[in-house]
Amino acid sequence: MARNKYDVDEIMEEKFDVHQLLRFAKYVLPYKKKMIFAGVLMLSSSALTMLIPRFFMNVLDDCVPEKDVAGIIKYSIFTLLIILYSVLTLKTKIRITNEVGQDVIHKLRTDIFEHLQELPFSYYDNRPHGKIQVRVVNYVNNLSNLLSNGLINTITDLCSLVFIIIFMLTIDWRLTLICMCGLPVLGVFVALIKKKQHRAWQIQSNKQSNLNAYIAESINGVRVTQAFVREERNLDIFNRLSDSYRTSWMHAVRYNFMIGPAVDLISVVTTAFLYVIMVSWLVNGEGGASVGVMVAFTGYISRFWSPITTLANFYNSLLTAISYLERIFETIDEPVAVKDKEGAGEMPPIRGKVTFDHVCFSYEDGVRILNDVSFTAQPGQSFAIVGPTGAGKSTIVNLLSRFYNVDSGRVLVDDIDISEVTLHSLRTQMGVMMQDSFIFSGTIMDNIRYGNRTATDEEVVRAAKTVCAHEFIMEMEQGYQTQVNERGSRLSVGQRQLISFARALLADPKILILDEATSSIDTETEIALQKGLNELLKGRTSFIIAHRLSTIQNCDTIMYVDKGGIRERGSHKELLEKKGLYYDLYMSQYSFLNN
Ligand SMILES: Nc1ncnc2c1ncn2[C@@H]1O[C@H](COP(=O)(O)OP(=O)(O)OP(=O)(O)O)[C@@H](O)[C@H]1O
Ligand SMILES: [Mg+2]
Repeated sequence: MARNKYDVDEIMEEKFDVHQLLRFAKYVLPYKKKMIFAGVLMLSSSALTMLIPRFFMNVLDDCVPEKDVAGIIKYSIFTLLIILYSVLTLKTKIRITNEVGQDVIHKLRTDIFEHLQELPFSYYDNRPHGKIQVRVVNYVNNLSNLLSNGLINTITDLCSLVFIIIFMLTIDWRLTLICMCGLPVLGVFVALIKKKQHRAWQIQSNKQSNLNAYIAESINGVRVTQAFVREERNLDIFNRLSDSYRTSWMHAVRYNFMIGPAVDLISVVTTAFLYVIMVSWLVNGEGGASVGVMVAFTGYISRFWSPITTLANFYNSLLTAISYLERIFETIDEPVAVKDKEGAGEMPPIRGKVTFDHVCFSYEDGVRILNDVSFTAQPGQSFAIVGPTGAGKSTIVNLLSRFYNVDSGRVLVDDIDISEVTLHSLRTQMGVMMQDSFIFSGTIMDNIRYGNRTATDEEVVRAAKTVCAHEFIMEMEQGYQTQVNERGSRLSVGQRQLISFARALLADPKILILDEATSSIDTETEIALQKGLNELLKGRTSFIIAHRLSTIQNCDTIMYVDKGGIRERGSHKELLEKKGLYYDLYMSQYSFLNN
């Protein structure tokens, strides 16, 4: 099948890694008491049920010939009680394992989510979000099956197998040995297909993640898809991915389905052989064989193979689970590149001096985005960054919040290297409004309060008023309590910007970063906003990125950034007099407006 760019393979280890399972077992360890209790219940019930074929043997061989009715009734009552006990224990076991299973899954899911939240921007830059999602949701859910059905059943089945063998041995050791002859054959078969089976499940999990990534991307981009009438083409891609997922699943599950029939086949052959031997013994009167022995042994044979079938199924789900666990632990183990240094101190209350000291930075190795950038902003200064698209303006402010680590050089706030202080103490003192203003699902009030949970309603309203958002918010049917969807789809782009703007302000930051904060806002609102803002920027160091130069003319310093470096810097007036790049940019906008 033709592959496409969506069908990307993740790096997969070929080897079968038991460590994943041991690591997973650590999640179950806290519940060991409950699990042991369930295990003991199951063991006791399986040991007791082992007695039933023996009762049959006694009834047939002793009670029936001697017409001992009381004996028959006694054995019947025992049998009934044992069955009742096993039903009750089974019910308890199911409840316990489900509880433990869901608890473990919850803990695992929380661990991934917690880690995902800490992972730096660079992690998300490099992979489709759908692939991350599938790990937190689908893969983790798949494990619950392993836990709730697998673990205890396996332990109890293993033990019952031992019981059965003991019981069989007490009846006839030769028959028992014949019965067990099938086991090594099964072992060899399982060992032969193990590697291929594991690989097939790895591929299946990868295809599932590809499909998920494409679905997530398509949902996010559905407007563009419809605008460019790409539905058919997208359906094509989807079909191919879905088909490839289906094929990989069929391929993988084929191995799983091989084991069941293999067990059946081996069991049928050995059982048939045993029957032949038992009947011939019975006919020839050899080896002390009786009808009772035959009935009891037949009962044990079927019991002998049923735990082996469950064990084989468990083994199947184990192999499936390992390929999911690999992906899950890979996510949990992903190193947090941007994190607090060992012994990092708290950032003292920020006064607002910001220095870039010979900073070099690249997102990808070998592609320099910032090259030896140096500048200093004094406390309270407003700093504008202008320049062409892709020049590195957003990159500069991303480094200031330490969303990425610099390659070389230093970023200093109040002369303290920001890599030496905790991220929390640094970021809580900064207000960042990013270029793509993200709105979360919830009320408008919640969205503004996002950066400062302790802010009162009055403070939220004040922030909204400052950025001229109050008016449009009040026009909505429920004002600040209006529900907005994820990404704020019911708001206009300008309205989204104003809400994010208010959010950045509410944190009352000493350093304020506004990346294209007002690019989609009409000129009238912008002029009104500017007035309030001038007041507000007092006493704060601010970095304002803007393409529309009218927004930044009053800033103390304007930096013109291009090709990874600062080309010009100075006040609006100075830069115009210089008649350089900024002048050209200004004149092009100015003449554009006047033509
Ligand atoms: N996450 C990323 N991974 C790799 N390269 C990136 C990433 N983000 C940005 N770049 C590259 O870095 C360069 C600078 O990007 P940046 O976002 O800083 O530009 P900008 O000046 O803010 O542009 P704009 O005015 O369009 O917002 C661009 O060439 C871009 O291709
Ligand atoms: Mg930008």
